[in-house]
Amino acid sequence: AGRERRTSDVVVIGAGPAGLMAARTAKAQGLSVTVLEARRRVGGRTWNGLVEGTDGKDHFIEIGGQWISPDQTRLISLVEELGLPTFSRFRDGRNVYVDPRGERHVYDGLDFPVAEKTDREMDRLIAKIDELTAEIDAAAPWEHPRAAELDKISFRHWLEQQSDDPEAIDNVSIYIASGMLTKPSHTFSLLQALLMSASAGSFRNLVDEDFILDKRVEGGMQSVSLAMAAELGDDVVLGQPVRTLRWAEPDPSTADEKNGVAADVRNGVAHDGAAGDVVALTDDYEVHARYAVLAVPPNLYSRISFEPPMPREQQIAHQHISMGLVIKVHAVYETPFWREEGLSGTCFGGGRLVQEIYDNTNRGENPAGGAPGEEDPHGTLVGFVSDVYAEQMWALPEEERKAAILGAMAEYLGPRTLEPIAFFLSDMAAEEWTRGAYATSYDLGGLSRWGHLQNRPTGPIHYACSDIAAEGYQHVDGAIRMGEAAALAIAEREATDAGQPTG
Ligand code: FDA
Repeated sequence: AGRERRTSDVVVIGAGPAGLMAARTAKAQGLSVTVLEARRRVGGRTWNGLVEGTDGKDHFIEIGGQWISPDQTRLISLVEELGLPTFSRFRDGRNVYVDPRGERHVYDGLDFPVAEKTDREMDRLIAKIDELTAEIDAAAPWEHPRAAELDKISFRHWLEQQSDDPEAIDNVSIYIASGMLTKPSHTFSLLQALLMSASAGSFRNLVDEDFILDKRVEGGMQSVSLAMAAELGDDVVLGQPVRTLRWAEPDPSTADEKNGVAADVRNGVAHDGAAGDVVALTDDYEVHARYAVLAVPPNLYSRISFEPPMPREQQIAHQHISMGLVIKVHAVYETPFWREEGLSGTCFGGGRLVQEIYDNTNRGENPAGGAPGEEDPHGTLVGFVSDVYAEQMWALPEEERKAAILGAMAEYLGPRTLEPIAFFLSDMAAEEWTRGAYATSYDLGGLSRWGHLQNRPTGPIHYACSDIAAEGYQHVDGAIRMGEAAALAIAEREATDAGQPTG
């Protein structure tokens, strides 16, 4: 049987927050849309889950992205508009820090209880990073006059040039390396690190967990995508990976006949290509449109066959963008026992197997039966195992892995941590349509060489994803902003085209 044919003004590839926001915005601009999603669900890297406990009950977890910070204003206003209630992360009580010698310290406030010298070093490093961050335009870090220079030194190497205090270096690098890009700090550049902090306003914001991990959506962050998809109805088609995207007719007058390559494409002329006949092919559908929004993470662009091929600079650039790797650990307990000891559940230990832990107890209505506005009596902890440690953990048999991770969490919160009633590890790296977590970043030197291409439309193809965002880079807020911006750019092109005489 042939493919079912659909026609719309815009075809959106990917029904994560970016793609759904693009579709919603395009529709509001009077354009018809079809959203093609590879998975059998919407939401992409946001995903509400249930894990069965030893008590025989299901417990609610957020497998993917969940927290909202106060600067993420576009997401905040969308959440309000969709009528989704939010709540604050539990943070009452004292925090726990485990130092490089494995010694446990209980402390108040934001500053780690480190030696005075290390404290001063951390302050000095943070001030230095923020000085540089202030010079960076998150929308175009490659335009910084010293972009190439800042992009040719790894974040780790740069920190080691600034300080000889390894504890200070570990504690500062955690906020960008294991905490955000989820890659070792020697694998990405200082410029990439500065983009990360500029996208959140400042490095100090990243250090402030009460800022960066402020609120959650009752019933989970995937609800944002579920609500948008419900509005879009039949415009969203699930279980249909786009395999091929036809986006331009090679111009026969410029075709390089000997080699069978359209010279205009090779030379990048197609960048200025008009809206045209875009055809997105899945196993069951062919969608004809005037524009495409490619709303998938950049590491997956090459899963699609582009006809004609993408301009060569894009083909090269896309190979220098890769996903980080992190395991989000979910441990559910009979009660939030740490609160009995006056602890917040917030824990840090730079360089340790589990480097961060937070109280992630649910509130509100959710698929496990929570009631609106009410806190779940069970206590949930989330912890994070990043990059090299994640690899080590996945190499272990399941029971050893669980024991190692819970053991590392017990270093902070004591032996009761070892006895969860439910346990789950988020494994986005094993998901075909994500292949890592949380998001993508460039390799050393890549951002200054190719960053300027990431948001430039290729003919009728516009790009939208959190991973190419300025504000909200790597976050749901960035996805929403990019989806909206792509749809508005298309609407503007449509209006311009309509105003022009044809023929
Ligand atoms: P996203 O990846 O979400 O969606 C892309 C969609 O495209 C997917 O649905 C995919 O299936 C689909 N797709 C891919 N290829 C396709 C093809 N060929 N054809 C059709 N469809 C295709 N953010 C935050 O703000 N706060 C947080 O606390 C966290 N924490 C966090 C934890 C974990 C474990 C993860 C993995 C991620 C986060 N994030 C986060 C990041 C956040 O989840 C992420 O930035 C957004 O989901 C990105 O949304 P996008 O729509 O850009 O991509």
